[in-house]
Formats: sequence, structure tokens, C-alpha cells
Amino acid sequence: MLMRGATRVVAAALLFGVSVGECPNYSTHSQQRHEPLSTGAYALSYQRPDPACRTFNSSGVEEIIVRLKDKIYDPDLYRLFENTFPNTLDTAIRWRGVAANNTAEELCFVITGDINAMWIRDSADQIAPYKSAMSNATDDIASVFRGVLNMQARYLIVFTCNFELDDFAAFLQLGHDYYTATGDVDFFGKYQWIYAIQSIMSASKALKQPTYGPDGEWVVPEYTFQSQTMTGSGTLGNHGVGNPVNYTGLIRSPFRPSDDAATYDFSIPANMMMAVYLESNADIMERLPNAPAGLAKEMRDMASEVREAIKTWGTVKAPSGKKVFAYEVDGYGGQNLMDDANVPSLLSAPFLGYLDKNDEIYQNTRSLILSRSNPFWCQGPIISGIGSPHVQPGATWPMSVIMRIMTTDDDIEIRTNMKMILSSTAGLGLIHESVNAFDAKKWSRQWFTWANGLFGQMVLDIEARKPGLLKESYQPFRYMAAA
Ligand SMILES: *[C@@H]1O[C@H](CO)[C@@H](O)[C@H](O)[C@H]1NC(C)=O
Ligand SMILES: *[C@@H]1O[C@H](CO)[C@@H](O)[C@H](O)[C@H]1NC(C)=O
Ligand SMILES: *[C@@H]1O[C@H](CO)[C@@H](O)[C@H](O)[C@H]1NC(C)=O
Ligand SMILES: *[C@@H]1O[C@H](CO)[C@@H](O)[C@H](O)[C@H]1NC(C)=O
Ligand SMILES: *[C@@H]1O[C@H](CO)[C@@H](O)[C@H](O)[C@H]1NC(C)=O
Repeated sequence: MLMRGATRVVAAALLFGVSVGECPNYSTHSQQRHEPLSTGAYALSYQRPDPACRTFNSSGVEEIIVRLKDKIYDPDLYRLFENTFPNTLDTAIRWRGVAANNTAEELCFVITGDINAMWIRDSADQIAPYKSAMSNATDDIASVFRGVLNMQARYLIVFTCNFELDDFAAFLQLGHDYYTATGDVDFFGKYQWIYAIQSIMSASKALKQPTYGPDGEWVVPEYTFQSQTMTGSGTLGNHGVGNPVNYTGLIRSPFRPSDDAATYDFSIPANMMMAVYLESNADIMERLPNAPAGLAKEMRDMASEVREAIKTWGTVKAPSGKKVFAYEVDGYGGQNLMDDANVPSLLSAPFLGYLDKNDEIYQNTRSLILSRSNPFWCQGPIISGIGSPHVQPGATWPMSVIMRIMTTDDDIEIRTNMKMILSSTAGLGLIHESVNAFDAKKWSRQWFTWANGLFGQMVLDIEARKPGLLKESYQPFRYMAAA
């Protein structure tokens, strides 16, 4: 039943996509430069579609764009902000409607951008930056949050394929974002949200199971995945089972947020994110009169077991002798010391609300992953940061540079990294998935709305924490000297 409902929605979205005949194909549009160019050294393209072609209009979001105009001094920085912040609303809201059997149940289908499909993690992160434009349930943007939550709930009750734990966590994060901004608790009791949480809880329990039973016998896991692919990390080893895990209290994530198969299944960043948002969603569950008895407590118990297991199993000794968080572990002592740019990452732990950015183990971890000790650290004259096995070595993901800015109080670190981001768009004025650390013209994904939105969110975060930094120039030194 649910599967059929979801399929109908997707079909409607595709029909709608075809009917938008007059507007430019944004895949192509985003690879070209458009006037007026920004007046800084990088002469960045204007990338917002014509108002008539935008896929959602939010007055709150437009107000923020206007407000920042007076707050940002650097013309290239402002251009990048005005292009990126609204990018999901401008280009990626593919379909909005209501459920076939309940006209009060809003639904919203958000594509990732260049990929014409809706990802649970991406769509939660794509609209997360707009929480700053939402103060109650009647704001225009609130309807997008409800529509995405309802749509994701339907998908979660059915099943996903290459399973990533952060998809569960992203759904919980979206609920948290909507609830904290609007206080609208009634919404959560009305449609499929409770069933989606039950489904997340039972799948998470199954994903804690160790590979071997008490007598050493192999226990066939409930989740297996195999596919025919040219990508080594696109399928799971051991005939679709993945590498063995011991019992730890952590939840397996056979795939990473980058969509690559894990080396060790217990992703520490994804488990951190689960712990944080299980707790905040338990707060919502507790306030629902129709919540199943004991469910909120079960959510809290799972969160504390995960926190405890991160201390016991996820905190390890680096070759330097310092205590750090591992990226992945297996409960046998296997530990993967690295970080991937995709969020949830170790770098993003304070952004996720798991710990304070001054936490000693986090600071040790941060020094390791922002250095050549991280096998996925990419360094070069254009942009240095963390990459991902999803592309190739040497390609920095600007997303990690954005996250670096959001997790530091150091003005110098913020300035240096902001300059690198501005210099890395090849004049196109959008955030790419990855950029060759030595050559800004070599990049991947022209229309990646998650990273665009995250850049906008970062600018708003600087406005809140350090508004003075928005009054500075981020122009390259040579340009300033010549001017
Ligand atoms: C609408 O359909 C969904 C999916 O089949 C179902 O779970 C839900 O209970 C239905 N709602 C109503 C009000 O009938
Ligand atoms: C848009 O352009 C891309 C190539 O840039 C192409 O792959 C895609 O099919 C086009 N989409 C439509 C709806 O025409
Ligand atoms: C957004 O507003 C413009 C007018 O400024 C309008 O032409 C367009 O249809 C609107 N888009 C949507 C999705 O409502
Ligand atoms: C919701 O917030 C908007 C401002 O964003 C305000 O204009 C409106 O009056 C508020 N509505 C309610 C019901 O509080
Ligand atoms: C496997 O997990 C069990 C239960 O948590 C623990 O007692 C045992 O020491 C672990 N094995 C290894 C090799 O760490």
C-alpha cells in the first residue's frame, strides 16, 4: 500500500518535470556564466533562475537575502551567498501536493539537483538552511518542511537499498528542526511520523546484531546488499553481508554518507548523529497523546547506549599517542583513522550537537583529520580540505572547508578557508562537490544543492557569531595590491 502511494507521487513529479518547458535546463545553466557578474576579482556568475522559473518562493528567505546585502562587504562573497542560499528552493522542489487519501497531508519531492531523485539525507540537509526563515507553522517555508517530513516518513516505512544510517538520523534531524522552529507538536501525531520512528527503531535494533551468535555460529544479518557495479565501494563484500562486527551497542551503517561501502560498519559520526537526534525526537514523542507506550523511553535508552559505546569503542589511540575518535570501528579493535567530507563527519561533531567544539578528544581528532595524517586530506594551492573516496584523491570537497569554518572560533582559520572557497568556483558562483586542489577548473557536479545550502547556512552562522567577519574583504592579495 505504502509502496504504491510513494510510486504514484514519483510518477507525478516526473510528469511535472517535463511540463516546465520554458525554463532553462539548470544542469546546463549552472555550467555557464551569466550577467551581471560580481564586481570582485572572481567576477562570479549570477546563478538564480528567473523568478518565473523558481520552484518555490519564500518571502522569509528573500528577506534574509536582502538583509545580508547590507551586512556583507565583499562583492564575491555576497554573490556566492545570494546564488547558493536559495538554490534548493530556486531549482530543486520538483513537486508539491497532498496525499491521495488525505488532503491535509502535505507532500514535497526534493531532487538533489543534477540527480533527478530524492535522497533522505540530502533532502533533510537541503532544506535545513531555511529553518532560519521559519518562526511558526504558518510561514510559507514551514509547508516545505512538513511536506518533506511526510514524504520521507513514507519512504522509511517501505525500505531503502544501499543503507546509510545517516538517512535515519537525517529524518530525525528534520523533525527536530521543524519542531524547534515552530513548536508545532500536533503535526507529528497526525500522519506517518510515529510509524516511521517505529520502523527506524526496529531496523536500528536489527543493525546492532553481531555477526556471530553466542556459540560462534554465523547469524545471517537482516540487512544484506549486493549490486553489479564498476565501483569497488558500490557493493558489499562477504556476499553482500559486509565485514564482520562484534556487539558494541553501536548501529551498523554498511554504507557511508558518501554512498561508499564502509570499511568497518560502525560509523562513529553517524552514530553520534543518531544519539543526538534520537534524544530530541524522544522529546517530541513524549508530547504526543497517541504515542505508543514506552517508545520515547526506548529512544532515549538507545541514544545512551550509543553514547556509551562511542566512549568504549569509538574512542581510540592515534599513532601520536593521543585519544581520538575513529571514523569507523568493528568492535574487534579494528579502527579506521580518517574523515570523509560528507556530513555526518567527525569534523562536524559539534555542528551535529554531539559535543562542544572545545572537547579535548574532538580537538585531537580535528588536528588529525585536518592534516596529512588523514588519508583523504587533499592539499594544494587552490583549496585544501577533506575529500572522499567517492571521487578520487586530490579532489577537495568544499563542503569540508565550509564545515571547518562552522566548527572553529579562530578568525584566521575562518578567513583563510573563506578565501579558498571563493577562489574555487571557476567563476560559476556555485559550490561544487569536489575541486581539484591544484586546478579550480577541474571540478565535479555543477548543481549540488546540498553543498550550496550549507554555504548559505555557514554565512548565517558567521552573521550570528562573528558579524565583523562579514565586513572584511576576501579578495586575493594580488588583486587588492593592484586595485
Ligand atoms: C493514507 O494512506 C496511507 C498509506 O497507504 C495509510 O498509512 C494511512 O493510514 C492512510 N490515511 C488515511 C487517513 O486513510
Ligand atoms: C538537462 O541537461 C542535461 C545535460 O546537461 C541532460 O542530461 C538532461 O537530460 C537535461 N534535462 C532535461 C529535462 O532536458
Ligand atoms: C514564484 O514567483 C514568481 C513571480 O515572482 C512566479 O512567476 C512563479 O510562478 C512563482 N513560483 C512558484 C513555484 O510559485
Ligand atoms: C508567524 O510568523 C510570521 C513572521 O514570520 C508572522 O508574521 C505571523 O504573524 C506569525 N503567525 C502566527 C500565527 O504566530
Ligand atoms: C566482542 O564483544 C564482546 C561483548 O561486548 C566482548 O566481551 C568481547 O571482548 C569483544 N571481542 C573483542 C575481540 O573485542
